[in-house]
Amino acid sequence: MERIDETRLPNHIAIIMDGNGRWARKNALRRLAGHRKGADSVRNVVRSCRRLGIKFLTLYAFSVENWQRPEAEVSALMSLLEDYLRSELQEMNDKDIRLMTIGDVDRFPGKTRKVLLNTVEKTSKNSGMILTLALSYGGRDEIVESVKKVVRDIKEGRIKESDITRENFSNYLYTSDIPDPDLLIRTSGEYRVSNFLLWQLAYAELYFTDILWPDFSEESLFDAVADYQKRERRFGLISDQLSVD
Ligand code: FPP
Repeated sequence: MERIDETRLPNHIAIIMDGNGRWARKNALRRLAGHRKGADSVRNVVRSCRRLGIKFLTLYAFSVENWQRPEAEVSALMSLLEDYLRSELQEMNDKDIRLMTIGDVDRFPGKTRKVLLNTVEKTSKNSGMILTLALSYGGRDEIVESVKKVVRDIKEGRIKESDITRENFSNYLYTSDIPDPDLLIRTSGEYRVSNFLLWQLAYAELYFTDILWPDFSEESLFDAVADYQKRERRFGLISDQLSVD
């Protein structure tokens, strides 16, 4: 951890956890074994981020596209999620971690939804770190949903068209309570954003690694944060306009 400057941490890290299936194939195991090992990586990365002092961690746990996977895999992922939430509740409360979700959680089976809502509610007073799971999430769906809400507000006279700005449009997104990510990590050597946080990633630093998600360790996280700290974030300005710290 010596190589990390704790005064310049990313406030919000978002992760596209990819490569569970390939990890399983590489180890001659079934896909489910890859997802199980992936859930261990989730546990570890949540702990590491909390220890490091990261305030917001957002994980892409299930995309809208993932519904198209074989039914057996979808239901195995649901069970894994339920097991994860049940086993982590105590630790989330001990470590002051609040769970939130973004996405169309209503599409989830009743049993999974119940465990989710219960965890969200039982951790709602925590504020040390906000852990957000993107579930049945799609960035374009999120933007379309937001536009519909804006239209409704205009139609019902709560706002005028000229009231809409870049800043307040963000309040209509699923992430209205969460600042934009500073760092996006994607594992498994894929260089895509895959419909994740399309609006919110506008100024994020992107970090790609060949490591498969089940092999992603605390060291891998520190590598990503150290790389982030080497970069200069200009938000469209020139270097001289940024204050020197
Ligand atoms: C990508 O691997 C991973 C997912 C489909 C979602 C992430 C799910 C987990 C980490 C498991 C449990 C989650 C929680 C929150 C406990 P892939 O199947 O797309 O891998 P592949 O591209 O190599 O086939």
